[in-house]
Amino acid sequence: MSTGYPDLDALLPRLEAIPTLGPDALEAEHTAMLGRKSGALTAALKTVATLPVEERKRFGAAVNQLKTRFEEAFAARSAALDAERRRRESAGVDLTMPGRRRWTGAEHPVTRVVDEIVGIFRELGFAVATGPEVETEWYNFLALNFPPDHPAMDMHDTLYLDAPAAVEEGRHSGGKLLLRTHTSPVQIRVMHAAPPPVRVVMPGMVYRNDAMDASHLPAFSQIEGLAVDEGISFVDLKATLNHFAYRFFSPVTKTRFRPSFFPFTEPSAEMDVECQLCHGTGCPACKGTGWMEILGCGMVHEAVLENVGLDPERYTGWAFGMGPHRIALLRYGVPDIRLLLGGDMRFLEAVGRPGRTDP
Ligand code: DAH
Repeated sequence: MSTGYPDLDALLPRLEAIPTLGPDALEAEHTAMLGRKSGALTAALKTVATLPVEERKRFGAAVNQLKTRFEEAFAARSAALDAERRRRESAGVDLTMPGRRRWTGAEHPVTRVVDEIVGIFRELGFAVATGPEVETEWYNFLALNFPPDHPAMDMHDTLYLDAPAAVEEGRHSGGKLLLRTHTSPVQIRVMHAAPPPVRVVMPGMVYRNDAMDASHLPAFSQIEGLAVDEGISFVDLKATLNHFAYRFFSPVTKTRFRPSFFPFTEPSAEMDVECQLCHGTGCPACKGTGWMEILGCGMVHEAVLENVGLDPERYTGWAFGMGPHRIALLRYGVPDIRLLLGGDMRFLEAVGRPGRTDP
């Protein structure tokens, strides 16, 4: 609505803009229009007194009307902004609160253990190899010198696949397909792939027909190790595995080797480390013995070398197998292996490497 005066009409777009202003801009505009010293309308009003009588009335009325319209627009916008602020506050949004750090995840404790173990062996010059989780009976058992009637091959222990016979050629074919029960078949694949010297670690998942309880899982991780060359002896095995224990646990960790039996090693042993919770005095975690078993190992059996076409007169080797899930329990003092499969963030945060967070 025109005021009849171009100078006053020039202010109309600013009147229309008032409903869009935020709190600070609104205050600034109020001062610019109605401020006592420099307000544009205040200045216009001051000129009224200088005009001739007739003109004074008309122009005075126009300025006052416009001033009223501005005042009403300022009051309306101010009320609207107040209402908006109250709505925000009652909705529980406090914009002055400091930001929350965002959770971006952490390494799973078992992943961390696998990476560390593999890293220690890599420092010693070991390569890393992997093999398939679906294996033939030959790779999983027979090539590793299990007799054909070994109880581990029973359906009670091993998960067989209801699938057509293996597609691989030659003597490795045939037999049933199964989910590998250990990572030892990767030893066979590695020795097939390249002649000695062999120094390899082989991480992976393995499967057994076991019910889940506090210390068993039907699917769990293993890391296999293998060194084959001329002149390799039990001294190499002990020195390497002791070095591993010192690096992984601590430089003062005591170790011991106990005689054991595996079809694919001769002699065979199990390696214990001093209990990481009680340091040898005996506690529930180590069943009072002061020791924790961490792996099986031994000198590669002559029959295994022969099965992959190596001459046992020329080559000797040693091997080990350990379970990172079990080792994670020992290292972090976790009482139940099932905790490692759950998604309980309190547990994972307590034992995991702290997740990187963004501010
Ligand atoms: N394959 C064995 C198991 O699953 C572990 C093992 C023992 C692996 C001795 C080895 C070894 O390479 O030498 O129980």
